[in-house]
Amino acid sequence: MLRSDMGTEGQRRPTVVLGVTGSIAAYKAAHVARLLVKAGVRVLPVMTESATKMLGPATLAGITGESVRSDMWAPGTAGELHVELAAAADLVAVVPATAELLSSLVAGSASDLLRATLLSARGPVVLAPAMHPRMWSHPATSDNVATLRMRGVELVGPVVGEVASGDVGEGRMAEPEAIAAAILGHLGPRDLEGRHVVVSAGPTVEDIDPARYLSNRSSGKMGYAVAEAAVRRGARVTLVSGPVALQPPSGVALVEVRSAHQMQAALAHALGPELRGADAVIMAAAVADYRPATVHEAKLKRVGPVTLELVPNPDLLAELGRARHGARPVLVGFALETVTGDDLVSAARKKLEKKRVDLVVANTAVDAFERDDNRIMLVDRERVRSLPQATKRALADRILDHLVTLLKD
Ligand code: CTP
Repeated sequence: MLRSDMGTEGQRRPTVVLGVTGSIAAYKAAHVARLLVKAGVRVLPVMTESATKMLGPATLAGITGESVRSDMWAPGTAGELHVELAAAADLVAVVPATAELLSSLVAGSASDLLRATLLSARGPVVLAPAMHPRMWSHPATSDNVATLRMRGVELVGPVVGEVASGDVGEGRMAEPEAIAAAILGHLGPRDLEGRHVVVSAGPTVEDIDPARYLSNRSSGKMGYAVAEAAVRRGARVTLVSGPVALQPPSGVALVEVRSAHQMQAALAHALGPELRGADAVIMAAAVADYRPATVHEAKLKRVGPVTLELVPNPDLLAELGRARHGARPVLVGFALETVTGDDLVSAARKKLEKKRVDLVVANTAVDAFERDDNRIMLVDRERVRSLPQATKRALADRILDHLVTLLKD
């Protein structure tokens, strides 16, 4: 049985299951544990059997003040320890994560306590892979990594550097500070409790005929990261999403749409009369500006040159800016441009005014598309904040930090 946790002020501490697998980098897990404990996190260490050969369990027990668990069938448990650990955890991290761990997570293996805990966990999962560069670059590992990312697992590293064998390449575990920061990024305050936040994400798809459409390269990752972070911070979240290849974050109300018109209807429904049904709308969707003037019912035949007539779609965000009374809902737009620096700021400012929104998240196409990280600027009426390159998940929290201040005004 896990004992319950109450921090010094009677508040529950954020809780992380820290899984450790059998890589030489396991000794660095102790440093990560120390950083988390210092940040006020309760750390529940779970080691695989091979990890215990690399790092003494007593070290982790000493740092965390918790018993180190490895055995599903430890005395006093009824084979349900993995379920208890998963339920207690706000997040499960695996530091280091071997190639084998990645593979078994993809397969849904529950062959030991750590794997069974990962399979039971419903919160965020952060992995810090560490392996020889040849293992990391093997197509099997690349496929596993792609699958895990698609399922919403966050991978920190590996980085390029020297690995245990003395070889140099991509495979070395990320530094403990970076791993701890990624974990802490998921454990922020519940400062959106009681708020309803509507997030749009992904592209819209505008049909030409039953087989063809117009769309864009938006992956939806930024909007999904914002939705996930808002849930974690206590908001009720409606996620209006165009077609994407992502798992919806747990806890969101997902509304799937295809075209800009469907997105418009879904937003109207989520916001209700006079847009009073939500505290904030975050328009991360890449809404198609144009759609074909006619959607053909039968597939178009090849007949030589054709001209596709396009008509403008409504600007959903600008419509919300015009329709709202007073300062609610807070409106956040995105500006995706192909310019940088001052030109990016002035494009964002123009959008802020033209669409009558409160905050514009400005980014440049080359930094943003189909990637897990991005570089953004936050532009509101008073100031511009340029943020360093970071994962979309970390940036989602910075956007929400700003939203929280706007909600307080
Ligand atoms: N947006 C929208 N409806 C549209 C187009 C865009 O609601 N038809 C929203 C996007 O979700 C985003 C913001 O407006 O939050 C900026 O979109 P962007 O395409 O960068 O700006 P545009 O208004 O299309 O301006 P331009 O293409 O001229 O840069």
